[in-house]
Amino acid sequence: MRFFIDTAKIEDIRTAADQGLIDGVTTNPTLLSREGGDWRDRAKEILEVVKGPVSLEVVAEDAAGMILQAHDLKKMGDNVVVKIPMTPEGLKAVKTLSSEGIDTNVTLIFSPLQALLAAKAGGTYVSPFIGRLDAIAENGMSLVEDIRTIFDNYGFTAKILVASVRHPMHVLEAALIGADVATVPFAVLQQFVHHPLTDKGLASFLGDWKKLTGGKW
Ligand code: E4P
Repeated sequence: MRFFIDTAKIEDIRTAADQGLIDGVTTNPTLLSREGGDWRDRAKEILEVVKGPVSLEVVAEDAAGMILQAHDLKKMGDNVVVKIPMTPEGLKAVKTLSSEGIDTNVTLIFSPLQALLAAKAGGTYVSPFIGRLDAIAENGMSLVEDIRTIFDNYGFTAKILVASVRHPMHVLEAALIGADVATVPFAVLQQFVHHPLTDKGLASFLGDWKKLTGGKW
């Protein structure tokens, strides 16, 4: 399973990249606006740090506008993945971009049939938003399961990119289902780096080393 980091915060992206934790990045207008400043500078900085797929989102609402913005975004780097919303116009844009060989990430997916349409249109990634479904008492993880089944039934190669992740259990369950990628906020990534038994075990090893050598190498 690949991990992307779901943020536009450059310090967190650098830290996670240095830890070898991430294969790519997802951003959206909200995440970029949280960081402020010029979004293009921010996007360029991210693309300098991460060589894997970096999702940048269009904001036009018609297919022609989305395609223009997609071409603009692609000029920033070969690893740009164009994020397109799951709308009728979005599907048109995905179809055209896919025929041009441009990678897309179809975002804001909340039903298995939306995922099926996104895959049929030629989306490279489809992003089910599981945390937002859980928040309205719908089961986000069943959505991932359904999408996995549909894609396997028909041999769709679109990658399932689990989004709107809230905690490590979301990542574990998505991995058990066989989702291809999880995009994870920095804080959640750090949560599953740690385990209390690791910390306890290390403290005891270091204590014993000190007894043996006084702490010298
Ligand atoms: C995915 O690409 C999105 O950026 C994302 O995960 C947004 O989810 P959230 O706003 O519910 O956290």
